[in-house]
Amino acid sequence: MAENMKAVRIHDYGDPNVLVYEDAPRPVAQAGEVLVKVAAAGINPVDWKTRAGSGMGGRYGNAFPLIVGWDISGVVEAVGEGATAFKVGDAVFGMARFPDVGAAYAEYVAVPQSEVALKPANIDHLQAAAFPLAALTAWQALFEAGHLQRGERVLVQGAAGGVGHLAVQIAKWAGAYVIGTGSTANMDFIHELGADEAVDYSTTPFEEAVGSVDLVLNCVGGDLLNRSLAVVKQGGRLVSIAGKPDAAEAEERGITATSILVSPVESHLHEIARLIANGELKTTVSHVFPLAESNHAHAFAESRTLRRGKIVLEV
Ligand SMILES: NC(=O)c1ccc[n+]([C@@H]2O[C@H](COP(=O)([O-])OP(=O)(O)OC[C@H]3O[C@@H](n4cnc5c(N)ncnc54)[C@H](OP(=O)(O)O)[C@@H]3O)[C@@H](O)[C@H]2O)c1
Repeated sequence: MAENMKAVRIHDYGDPNVLVYEDAPRPVAQAGEVLVKVAAAGINPVDWKTRAGSGMGGRYGNAFPLIVGWDISGVVEAVGEGATAFKVGDAVFGMARFPDVGAAYAEYVAVPQSEVALKPANIDHLQAAAFPLAALTAWQALFEAGHLQRGERVLVQGAAGGVGHLAVQIAKWAGAYVIGTGSTANMDFIHELGADEAVDYSTTPFEEAVGSVDLVLNCVGGDLLNRSLAVVKQGGRLVSIAGKPDAAEAEERGITATSILVSPVESHLHEIARLIANGELKTTVSHVFPLAESNHAHAFAESRTLRRGKIVLEV
C-alpha cells in the first residue's frame, strides 16, 4: 500500500481557505527523478494566483486534488532509476516541474534531477526555498531575454519584491548600473541590495527620475509596463514578467519588448547556486509560516502588507 504524507491540497479553486492540510499519497521517484524530503517551500505570487484559479490554474483544469507550489529545499530521500547526479542525504533546492504541477507544499516531492542543485552550504533551507523560481526568473529576464551587458543602465520595476530584490543583485554582479523602483519604506532596502539609485514611486514618477536606460525589467503589472517603454533608449530592450507589453508601441519606439515565463533550466540554477555560495546573491525571507498554515501565508501574501523579499513555508 502506498505510504502517506502530509501535504497542502486544494479540491477546488478559491480563497486561501481552499488550502487543506491533510494526508496525501507520498510520491515515488520515477526514472531520472529524486525524492526530496522537503524542509521548506517558497511562496511566489503564481502560487496564490493558481490557487484562485488563474496563474497556472487554466492549464490544470479540474485535476483535483492538487498540491500547489513549486519552490523547494530539502534532503534527497531516495533516487529513481538512472538518477545518478545526487545521493541520498544530499541537501538540494530547486523549482519543481514549472509550469506543470510542482506539488511543493508537501513533506515529499519527486522531481526530475535536472531541476534541483546542491543547496549552497552557506544558506539554510528556509533561505534556499526562497530562491529558485524568483532567481531563475531574474536570470532569464536579464540575460536570456534582456541580453544585459556590462556597463548598461537597467531599470528594475518592483526592485524590493521576490524577483526584483534578486534581479538588482544579479544585474550589479553583471556590471550594470542599476536603478530600482519601490515604495518609500523600501528605499533603504533597495540601496542595501546594491542599486545605484532607488526611486520612490509613491512620490516621484519614474519617468522624471531615471533618464534613459538600455533595459527595463518589469516586475509590476498595470499601466507601469507600457509607461516604462518611454524610458528605454532606441535600440534598447524591455522584458516583462508581469503582463505583455504593447508590441506596436515598442516597435514604433525602436525597442525590443518581450514577456517571459520562467523555466527550470539546469545550467541557470547552477549559476545561481554558485553566486549564492560565493556570497554574491542573498535573499531576504521576511516571513515564515508553518506548512499547516499555508492558508494564512497566502492570505498574508495577497494582502500585500509585506512587499519585501520572500515568504517561505517551513515543513
Ligand atoms: N513570468 C514569469 O515567469 C514570472 C515569474 C515570477 C514572477 N512573476 C510575476 O511577476 C510579478 C512580481 O513577482 P514577485 O515575486 O517579485 O512579486 P512580489 O514579491 O509581490 O513583489 C512585487 C513588488 O512590486 C512592488 N511594487 C508594487 N507596485 C509598484 C510600483 N508601482 N512601482 C514599483 N514597485 C512596485 C512591491 O514593492 P513596494 O512595497 O515597494 O511597492 C513588491 O515588492 C508577479 O505578478 C508575479 O506573478 C512572473
